[in-house]
Amino acid sequence: MVVIFVPKETAAGETRVAAVPETVKGMQKLGLHVQVERESGAAAGFLDADYAAAGATLVDGDARHGADIVFGIQCPTPAQAAAQKAGGLLICTLTPATQLPTIKALRDAKVTAMALEFMPRITRAQKMDVLSSQATCGGYQAVLLAAVHLPKMFPLMMTAAGTLTPARVLVLGAGVAGLQAISTARRLGAVVEANDIRPAVREQVESLGAKFVDTGTPPDAETHGGYAKETSHEFLLRQREILTEHITQADVLITTALVPGKKAPVLVTADMRKGMKPGSVIVDMAAGQGGNVEGTVPGQRVVTAGVTILGDTNLPAQCAADASRMYARNVQAYLGEFVKDGKVNIDLDNEILGAVTVVHDGVVRHEPTAQALAAQGH
Ligand code: NAI
Repeated sequence: MVVIFVPKETAAGETRVAAVPETVKGMQKLGLHVQVERESGAAAGFLDADYAAAGATLVDGDARHGADIVFGIQCPTPAQAAAQKAGGLLICTLTPATQLPTIKALRDAKVTAMALEFMPRITRAQKMDVLSSQATCGGYQAVLLAAVHLPKMFPLMMTAAGTLTPARVLVLGAGVAGLQAISTARRLGAVVEANDIRPAVREQVESLGAKFVDTGTPPDAETHGGYAKETSHEFLLRQREILTEHITQADVLITTALVPGKKAPVLVTADMRKGMKPGSVIVDMAAGQGGNVEGTVPGQRVVTAGVTILGDTNLPAQCAADASRMYARNVQAYLGEFVKDGKVNIDLDNEILGAVTVVHDGVVRHEPTAQALAAQGH
């Protein structure tokens, strides 16, 4: 019988888990046997007893060496990768370009490694899209964090002690995370503005009750897959000029602007930030990709000139139960793509499997990663 192993995540600060009791049941329906490392779900609020009741076998310690399929949230270490058996599958978010030693270990161990972040943005794969599900959690959490750090309440309040004006929230980048941030801030009663460079976004922003800040659309703003492209420097300068006034008025600035495979664009310079009111709060969700705001320190919370800049790099881990639930459902749906009646069928001509499979049969299939390894003499 095909054995899946769900490890306890070992990366610092990682509280999520790649399978929850509900998906353990679903995977058994696919004909798979599920092993879960003890305490894997503890930080996300899922008990060992609930995994066992769902039909999983609990194991002590890391048992990936005996498994046919290993799950994960984050990329394993090179030693963990090397421990997997030849022909086994690894399914996680790999970020291969930044994890060359692990990719080399997977290649040499002849593990088939699948990077869920490369899921194609086609309708059939929506339910498998971990970037979207985790961005939803991140966008929500960003607003709650900002609300906690802001020395002011979000809603308009008319009280016996007088009227309190609502907080003003500006969201830069209105993709999955940004749209979730807009709706969460609106639910808390803030006045919200948002900006993006993709033309489809204006209507989505307005339908959530926010005002769209129009900085124009660069020619060819969007890729075929729905992602933004890098803009010219001239466009960026003009965009900053328009945004400056809106940033100055904002109590909360949430930035989510990303361009896949590139460093995040700097939308807010130190000068622009200096115009913000003391006490205002910035959540830079692009902190892990270089940051949208000058002065962001990845993984840290800093206060400069009275402005708090939050550079948290793993916001989904701060709402670990639902983030895990969504991730685990994404993974279960993905398994359904190539597991039938307990049999695994890896067909790399399948549009979905072909896109996410980064290493197979001793070959690195992700071209930029293969080139980077070759450049290092591997
Ligand atoms: P992302 O996380 O790569 O980027 C976040 C946002 O930043 C995007 O909206 C992007 O346009 C914006 N951005 C990039 N550069 C910018 C700049 N210089 N200034 C302002 N904004 C900038 O994107 P995300 O959220 O993962 O997805 C983008 C879109 O993809 C979604 O809104 C949706 O339309 C589409 N999508 C399609 C799916 C499907 O069909 N299966 C699934 C998920 C998303």
